[in-house]
Amino acid sequence: MACGQLSRAEALACSGCRHACHVMLYSDTESQLFGKIPIRHIILMQMRFDGLLGFPGGLVNPSKETLEAGLSRELLEELGVALPISIEDHVDSCHAPASSPSSPSRLITHFYVKKMEEEQIKEVERAAASTAPDHGQEVLGMVRVPLYTRKGGGGLAPFLSHSFIGNARSQLVDSLLRFNLVAPEELHRALTHSLKIHS
Ligand code: GTP
Ligand code: MN
Ligand code: MN
Ligand code: MN
Ligand code: MN
Ligand code: MN
Repeated sequence: MACGQLSRAEALACSGCRHACHVMLYSDTESQLFGKIPIRHIILMQMRFDGLLGFPGGLVNPSKETLEAGLSRELLEELGVALPISIEDHVDSCHAPASSPSSPSRLITHFYVKKMEEEQIKEVERAAASTAPDHGQEVLGMVRVPLYTRKGGGGLAPFLSHSFIGNARSQLVDSLLRFNLVAPEELHRALTHSLKIHS
């Protein structure tokens, strides 16, 4: 499922490609949902203007800014905080899903993951809902990804059944595995269940 097709250098060498950078910000947490379900991690996504879930970030112009500086600029616009992103936070780069098999996408999406302290994540949530320039415009609000799974439904499975922009859903699922945020069997069950929800 990981896209992993392009090295950073290959991606930047593509002439005529546009570039977009997005980041998954997350923290550990001791807090519990309803005072009893451990939520373990806070992971931020956003509800976009078009009703699709995605990660904060956006289009970057590599001839004018580094990928990471461009991503930080987008975070200032969308989250209202200055967050330095470094090359070490880079996870992968790949072509966005093609709209038709005969026309491969000219958009390359670069994905980053950055772990923060719980208090910093909460500060990002507060700023995104108040001082962020794009609040209520490009971005309708920040969303916490529910990581718990329950027999009776709720949590991760129905969340994964929502609609995501581009390959944001696989960026999320791949990161949950890669950074050990949800146990593989639990994630597998949630994925299987999510496919049955609206069918
Ligand atoms: P404008 O300032 O209006 O141009 O928006 P933006 O710069 O914030 O760009 P946006 O975040 O919409 O990202 C640009 C393109 O990248 C989108 O049109 C999507 O195709 C794609 N995209 C957006 N969010 C995500 C995401 O979370 N993951 C992936 N893989 N692609 C995304
Ligand atoms: Mn933006
Ligand atoms: Mn954006
Ligand atoms: Mn932009
Ligand atoms: Mn914009
Ligand atoms: Mn739904």
